[in-house]
Amino acid sequence: MREDIVVSIGGSILLPKEDDIEGLKNLSKMLLKVSEDFNLYLVTGGGRIARKYIRWGRSLGVDEAALDELGIRTSRLNARLLILALGKKVYPVPALGFDEAISAGNHYNIVTMGGTHPGHTTDAVSAMLAERLRCKRLINVTSVDGVYSDDPRLDKEATRFDRLDHDELISIVGKNEGRAGPNVVFDPLAAKIIKRAGIKTYIVSGDDLKNIEAAIKDEEFHGTIIGDT
Ligand code: UTP
Repeated sequence: MREDIVVSIGGSILLPKEDDIEGLKNLSKMLLKVSEDFNLYLVTGGGRIARKYIRWGRSLGVDEAALDELGIRTSRLNARLLILALGKKVYPVPALGFDEAISAGNHYNIVTMGGTHPGHTTDAVSAMLAERLRCKRLINVTSVDGVYSDDPRLDKEATRFDRLDHDELISIVGKNEGRAGPNVVFDPLAAKIIKRAGIKTYIVSGDDLKNIEAAIKDEEFHGTIIGDT
């Protein structure tokens, strides 16, 4: 039987640079190839566009939940762009909720989704979808090459982990302050969900398509594996 697999794709991975669509085209080609062997559920983040909207909204002085809504809408917009890049084999709209994603997955090899409700990020959406689908593995494609003891962009001394158990991940990401548009490697709520559901999670950098493909196929890859061994 084909394995159901959720791939969480940060918005900054879909569109790493302003006005550069080549990366999205190449990512889509790889995903289409992999979808011949796996049922893919692709959860897209809001990335740079979400952060811009959240920053503009915050300077208007609105509440955090209203800012979260801006993030949700931009993550769905990114899912739509990914759908257009993927072509005909994909469920033609971003699923708005888990029931829709699951039933669309009965008819399509690829289903996309953005955010759902205020208060978390698309990492949490991907963890909840993986839990609903009873997935054994979740792939998180992000802008760093794994989980570090601290943010490697801010702390040059931070060390990278090849493996972590669920509790170790929870204590590393637990420092998040909980405002709209956080930029931590993995959402603390997502970390709790993968623990309770016992989902092995692979954190992998978005800059090497072969490496992402290897992670999806459960082959050797460079990144961090989270799960109890
Ligand atoms: P992202 O999932 O894109 O956050 O959601 P991120 O991890 O900071 O960014 P990238 O894409 O991986 O670089 C963006 C924002 O949208 C709101 C939150 O404010 C989140 O920080 N959001 C998203 C929600 O409130 N609920 C959701 O289900 C998804």
